[in-house]
Amino acid sequence: MKKISQHGQWSSRLAFILAATGSAVGLGNIWKFPYITGENGGGAFVLVYLLCIFAIGIPIMMAEIMIGRRGRQSPINTMRDLAKEVGASGAWKWLGWLGVIAGFLILSYYSVIAGWAMAYVVRVGSGVFEGATADGVSNIFGQFVADPEKLLAWHSLFMVITMLVVARGVKGLERAVKFLMPALLVLLVLLVGYAIDQGAFKEAVSFLFSADFSKITSDGILIAMGHAFFTLSLGMGAIMVYGSYLPSNVSIGSTAVIIALADTAVALLAGLAIFPIVFANGLEPGSGPGLIFQTLPIAFGHMAYGSFFGTLFFILLVFAAWSSSISLIEPAVAWLVENKKMSRMRACIWSGLVTWIVGIGTVLSFNITSNIKIFDKTFFDVLDYLTANIMLPLAGLCIALFAGWVMTKESAEEELDFKQLYLFKTWLFLVKFVSPVAVVIVFLKAINVI
Ligand code: PHE
Repeated sequence: MKKISQHGQWSSRLAFILAATGSAVGLGNIWKFPYITGENGGGAFVLVYLLCIFAIGIPIMMAEIMIGRRGRQSPINTMRDLAKEVGASGAWKWLGWLGVIAGFLILSYYSVIAGWAMAYVVRVGSGVFEGATADGVSNIFGQFVADPEKLLAWHSLFMVITMLVVARGVKGLERAVKFLMPALLVLLVLLVGYAIDQGAFKEAVSFLFSADFSKITSDGILIAMGHAFFTLSLGMGAIMVYGSYLPSNVSIGSTAVIIALADTAVALLAGLAIFPIVFANGLEPGSGPGLIFQTLPIAFGHMAYGSFFGTLFFILLVFAAWSSSISLIEPAVAWLVENKKMSRMRACIWSGLVTWIVGIGTVLSFNITSNIKIFDKTFFDVLDYLTANIMLPLAGLCIALFAGWVMTKESAEEELDFKQLYLFKTWLFLVKFVSPVAVVIVFLKAINVI
């Protein structure tokens, strides 16, 4: 018997694709991918990242959507019920909890960075960067993040707009993403065009695509794998909960491939828009989380209509972050509605409040507490490392194991509904063996066991 979700359903396959792509395409693609590529030496890192997307990410994305649609509830209840159906341990519900907690932690810092993007809409729009030098732009960024009150104000505003959308259910988002995602792509293409024209494009291409494996460390491999999970929104129930709203006649396999390809294309385009400008201006590609806030404004400060395009770019960055942040909190909200019988509004207030409070830790880690370090990492760095490189891959590993070993082959096959048997067999082989083994090897390598 097919279940339906109490929270509603996407109106079409396209709506799901846009919502899931909206979740996948976010700060991870435009802000994080360029700077971690910069920090990890370029091409070899990109290659490992692409390998992870195809061999691990796509099969696990299919598994998450499949599990979500099979369960039709919040990830916690879905895991509990699907495990019960096959007589497996109820402890599988903790996998749902791991996701919910990762979602809170990610959103807490995600919102702070999205707040930077909002602040930059105003800054670029008001023309402060016009004619500014690389040093000038760096100074403006430095002064901004040194001010906790400003960061807190923007963080608060972003949390409010996120929770306002979540409170209204997924329907409002559906309308927004139909416009925002194509617009984001058009803008990125325009920026790449500008970068080809004005920047050190060749240098950027060779940085991104010529693999020098001596530059990559085992930690770099872990970061590439963690980022594959992060950028595809895997391992925390976001894609699972979106899958629970997916109409039952939509084919999961091809849909997941489209989402992953769109996400990868945006990340590569972002790299091609940003690195030519970095190199042309003699900037440091490994300069960390501030990279995009210190490089793009230089370009906008010099191009014709730069302030206009720059404003548009940061607006779209905010929207990309917005459509991701909604999916970060949706699993928690769906659970509160299902289990605590809360209205969506109340569920949003509580979950939003908790996330906002945790976010203050990130706000302070860029200024007042920037000297307090655990393992040489600030609070923000710890959250980022813990969630992206440990929690998401670990949960992804468990999702693969659940889909491949715990669920019955028949139910997975029925839900995935591949047109060809060999496709199903390939998927099953990937989630049963390849993804779990790859994740374990990368983990072991990162802690120097192998
Ligand atoms: N995929 C989003 C990005 O790349 C981040 C995200 C992670 C969203 C996990 C939802 C779940 O920015």
